[in-house]
Amino acid sequence: MIDDTLKIFKELNKKDFRIFAGIELGMRDYEWVPVSEIQRFACMPLDKLNYRLEWLRRKKMVIGTLDPYEGYKLYFEAYDALALHTYVARKTFSAIGVEIGVGKESVVMEVQKEPEMAIADPEIFILKLHREGRTSFKQVKRTREHLAGKEHFSWIYAARLAAAREFDIMQKLWPDVSIPRPVDQNRHTIVMEVAQGSDLFKTKLLDPDWYLDEILRQVKLTYGKGIIHNDLSEYNIFVSEDGIQIIDWPQYVTLAHPHAEELLRRDVENVLNHFSKKYKIHRDIDDVIAEIKTGANVDMDQLRKEFPDEEARLNEEMEREREFAVDELEDCETGFGDEN
Ligand SMILES: Nc1ncnc2c1ncn2[C@@H]1O[C@H](COP(=O)(O)OP(=O)(O)O)[C@@H](O)[C@H]1O
Ligand SMILES: [Mg+2]
Repeated sequence: MIDDTLKIFKELNKKDFRIFAGIELGMRDYEWVPVSEIQRFACMPLDKLNYRLEWLRRKKMVIGTLDPYEGYKLYFEAYDALALHTYVARKTFSAIGVEIGVGKESVVMEVQKEPEMAIADPEIFILKLHREGRTSFKQVKRTREHLAGKEHFSWIYAARLAAAREFDIMQKLWPDVSIPRPVDQNRHTIVMEVAQGSDLFKTKLLDPDWYLDEILRQVKLTYGKGIIHNDLSEYNIFVSEDGIQIIDWPQYVTLAHPHAEELLRRDVENVLNHFSKKYKIHRDIDDVIAEIKTGANVDMDQLRKEFPDEEARLNEEMEREREFAVDELEDCETGFGDEN
């Protein structure tokens, strides 16, 4: 789990990240990345590499095979470590705090960024590590169609796609829709601001009517941009004195989705059910949906242009990254910070 990753993270050095990055790149082409491939990137003699691989294997960061040849692949933990390493290098954050949520499809942590000025307080952000490929067989199956013989790569791909989708939509919605500000994205993870207040399902509201109106107003604003959350419920809404914020966006759909109507209805139903069960507030779902749609004027052509085939886009992006990583890794003197 992430705790183990954090413990081991401190013991990892520059070369280990090169090893991980070499395996990461190799995993696009190999189920088991051959040691010769890893060595191209690791910039170390074979005996040292073997020693280090054995250590990483014992620490459960990589998994190896000897049959039909000696090869390795990454565990999720190593992939986490790569993302953490990138964020620290970019100064997105400098320290990792407590775990604040483990969902079916994610691990959520607090992270800290040191202030630019020593006198200011550190900033706290949220790091969400996606876990889609690990648990969601449906998602894996869907992405498999795009992988053609690269099934071994599917968890990296699925988790990455989810993170990229989530960050992307958050950038499009913020600040018009009330969501935490998106801060940064890398691999299967995103960084965002901390949502204000606490989860709706945990809270006893004193003025539930006001909050229900506010939630529906945000659903309407989102809809007005051609977007449906598609996993809206009391578990993905934060409430505070100032208002509400909606989180957890990777499964959003656009109005161009063939089931957009049903999905909107389900979102609204979840919210109305919560308020009717907990607060005995009853609203007519048809009236609510009619109100959400009132005045919406979404240009569908524009929408389709803005949301092109995401898988294709991600593939392109990963190809670009690969070229960049190959350049960076092949120069054994650069990248990947100081050795410790
Ligand atoms: N920006 C945030 N601020 C505060 N807490 C958050 C934030 N994002 C996620 N969380 C916490 O982590 C939990 C899981 O995150 P979520 O995005 O809903 O992922 P999942 O798909 O696993 O449900 C949330 O229910 C919430 O309690
Ligand atoms: Mg959630």
